[in-house]
Amino acid sequence: MSEIDQYAVFGSPIKHSKSPRIHQLFAEQTQQVMQYTAQLVPADKFDLELKDFFAKGGRGLNCTVPLKELAWEAAEIRTERAELAKAVNTLLVQEDGRILGDNTDGIGLVTDLQDNHGIELKQKWVLILGAGGASRGIILPILEESPASITIANRTVEKALTLADEFSHKGAISGSSYADLAGQNFDLILNATSASLSDELPPLVSGILAEQGSCYDLAYANKPTAFVRWAREQQASKSLDGLGMLVEQAAEAFYLWRNVRPDTTPVIQMLEAERNNRQRVSV
Ligand code: ATR
Repeated sequence: MSEIDQYAVFGSPIKHSKSPRIHQLFAEQTQQVMQYTAQLVPADKFDLELKDFFAKGGRGLNCTVPLKELAWEAAEIRTERAELAKAVNTLLVQEDGRILGDNTDGIGLVTDLQDNHGIELKQKWVLILGAGGASRGIILPILEESPASITIANRTVEKALTLADEFSHKGAISGSSYADLAGQNFDLILNATSASLSDELPPLVSGILAEQGSCYDLAYANKPTAFVRWAREQQASKSLDGLGMLVEQAAEAFYLWRNVRPDTTPVIQMLEAERNNRQRVSV
């Protein structure tokens, strides 16, 4: 068993994961002695690798695509936000030896919106694009901030209606097609579709963003995503991508594991500066 507390992120692909870098920066900043590695783990090897990691004394694990649902199944107990998200991105061994599953994605998004960008959710009309796993992970933490309502729009409208139904006991939430958004107005539009991964844009109509409204893409890339470009065309007050959410969800996991809150601001600034440098080089 290693003397240094071991943490890891499992996923496939995993080569470009920024998590080891982020956690290393957190550890240096808070003077925590720990090691965090990235491990390529395909879905069919997950159970085996998970058992092996914790058997060897591993303290905590992050799980990313395509493992979040499997991590949810593997967790022996779950937080409420993970339970409803049906996805787990953070696992840790409790004092009683049981493995706890949490989902820090939604709280990471809320912290980035409110604390880093001053975008308050209270009494706001929020539109979420997409009704897959990414949407499911953020709904409860957003509802807990008491927005006026959440609308979920999806190409396959039945999925949006079903998802809204699952959360309707937690606040004002409804499902919609993209076409039915016409004529409505939202203070905040969150892109939780996987469209950005192929530089595509959900079928959005113009005019649905309120004056002074903001847009946020849960995905991040070295260049502005198709949705961020659309947001700029709509003259959004803020057109953001998910780099800050990535750092904030990591900070929440770090806090669960180490009981210490890292300062995320210098880490976000560093990753943004690196991204800008990369853009300059590739132009
Ligand atoms: P994730 O876990 O990333 O959310 P997912 O569960 O496969 O992935 O969900 C992908 C979501 O992105 C779905 O809501 C999907 O819409 P459909 O359910 O109608 O397929 C949405 N999506 C993917 N590509 C899209 C595109 N080009 N335009 C609009 N929505 C898209």
